Amino acid sequence: MKATVDPDRCQGHARCWEIAPEVFDLDEGGHGLVLTAEVPAGAEEIARRAALNCPERAITVR
Ligand code: F3S
Repeated sequence: MKATVDPDRCQGHARCWEIAPEVFDLDEGGHGLVLTAEVPAGAEEIARRAALNCPERAITVR
């Protein structure tokens, strides 16, 4: 599974990082970024939950 954050949509709500810190981090500007190219084994469900909870719908998981 891969996760991506669309930088044009991200507004820095940080829910991705709060919900799935194994998958997402925040950059210096407080915007979401993906830590690893592949979502770590066992973190798929929280990656999906983070995507559903992003108010800007900036996260894609597939
Ligand atoms: Fe950005 Fe959404 Fe995370 S707005 S910081 S990708 S919760």
